[in-house]
Amino acid sequence: MLHDLRGLCVWPDAVRGRVVKCVSGLTFSLITSQATERVRVVRFRVLGERFDVQVDGVSVEVRDPGARDLLCVLALRDGARVDAAELDALFGERAGAVVEAAGAALPDAVRPADRDGCRLDLGPDGYVDLHEFRDLAGRARAVRSDDASASLADYRAALDLWTGRPPRDVPASVRDPLLAELRRVREEIADMQLAAARPFAVIDDVRHWLACDPGHDRLRAVLGKALARAGRPGSDAVATGRAAPARIYDYFLGGKDNYAVDRDAAREILAAVPAAADAARANRAFVRRAVRYMAGEGGIGQFLDVGAGLPTRGNVHEIARAERPGARVVYVDNDPVVLTHGRAILEDSAHVAVVSGDLRDPDAIWRRRRLRELIDPAEPVGVLLCGVLHFLSDAEDPFALVERLTAGLPPGSLVAVTHAWFGDLEPGAADRALAVYRRSTAEVRPRTPDEIARFLTGFAPVEPGLVAVTDWRPDTATDRVGCVLGAVGRRV
Ligand SMILES: C[S@@+](CC[C@H](N)C(=O)[O-])C[C@H]1O[C@@H](n2cnc3c(N)ncnc32)[C@H](O)[C@@H]1O
Repeated sequence: MLHDLRGLCVWPDAVRGRVVKCVSGLTFSLITSQATERVRVVRFRVLGERFDVQVDGVSVEVRDPGARDLLCVLALRDGARVDAAELDALFGERAGAVVEAAGAALPDAVRPADRDGCRLDLGPDGYVDLHEFRDLAGRARAVRSDDASASLADYRAALDLWTGRPPRDVPASVRDPLLAELRRVREEIADMQLAAARPFAVIDDVRHWLACDPGHDRLRAVLGKALARAGRPGSDAVATGRAAPARIYDYFLGGKDNYAVDRDAAREILAAVPAAADAARANRAFVRRAVRYMAGEGGIGQFLDVGAGLPTRGNVHEIARAERPGARVVYVDNDPVVLTHGRAILEDSAHVAVVSGDLRDPDAIWRRRRLRELIDPAEPVGVLLCGVLHFLSDAEDPFALVERLTAGLPPGSLVAVTHAWFGDLEPGAADRALAVYRRSTAEVRPRTPDEIARFLTGFAPVEPGLVAVTDWRPDTATDRVGCVLGAVGRRV
């Protein structure tokens, strides 16, 4: 039997333990009666509401509710045996039938254990999200006192694996310890943020977590402390800290996810540039039209929205799915408030994920597991870089970052960009607005049309090219807003 192993980067594992003879170049002969032609990869998602098993990327339908329970238990057991007594306690006289149904669903993975029990054998490539959760949480704990930001990043990545509320599929005997692990991570994040004098981050996180898990009493106490430290026990009257672009933008759009400090900054910007709120609304309207175009005429079924911002009316997944049911969307942002609010609103869809990520590290964005679950980089992707690139300074080499983010996109992929251009503004007005952003968590670097067009290098502009966002395929005649330019480009 001849196997061409080109492209199989795991070939040494794939052929390990078998007699292998090199015939020529990269072609091998596997001399074995039971050579496996492909490596079967079994993946379990047990964190969050949705229990899902996939073999080689295809979901396995497990109809028998007992078998689903058993598969959950086996996945949570980390390969250890579930013995006959436990099977009896869980399934009573149905135990035998349940084991059989689970075995039928995953014939190679559910194995009989030594005496009347069973265990799960996923092999070296198998994946259970709980294991990754534990690894990340363990790593976060290990570096907590030395590197708080690395620790927080790992904690957040661990939480990213949870797709919503505590699992319903899992029997209580295993669900409760799992919940305890989730609660511990949440408490540790809140404690760290409180210790770092970030009460607003704690308030946002904890409110959301309590909405998902009202029984988490210890967090209520932490929330009380955070509110007291923020100077607003029970009210939103006073805010301190720095304004954040996501919340300033939310204010311009008429949203409610902003604090007094953001509203003050927004009013200052409006005093300098009265068109600022119109520009925000025009930018958002462009995003909606661009997504509609991408999902419709552009044929895009998967979207990556970097610098996604706070949820608003007409979110990207809503527009995309109205056009193309089943479209998948991954929202990426580096603002923890955006992530928390995003998850609160979007968490219940299996086709949508909100992940933390920074445009300054495109490789890390592509490495996010949730992203890789939802986005197949071999298929055309719709990438949105709207209202975010002007938060990258020249020193960060934003052109190289965008090139890196989009490097692997196949032909047919589309990229939408919007960017601040202050060429039409009075110099004094632009300077006053920029000064407000300088005091916020991120500075703005407006760019010229030529500079903005450079972000689309390697993409052919879709008609009408780079224009004021209000001029890009408008639905109705709208007053022109010139200070934000937008374009969509197609990879050819
Ligand atoms: C003005 S909002 C734009 C929201 C949305 N894309 C839109 O156009 O309607 C900018 C968003 O970019 C995010 N952001 C800023 N710098 C970022 C970075 N380096 N990486 C990821 N997100 C970033 C902010 O947190 C904010 O949510």
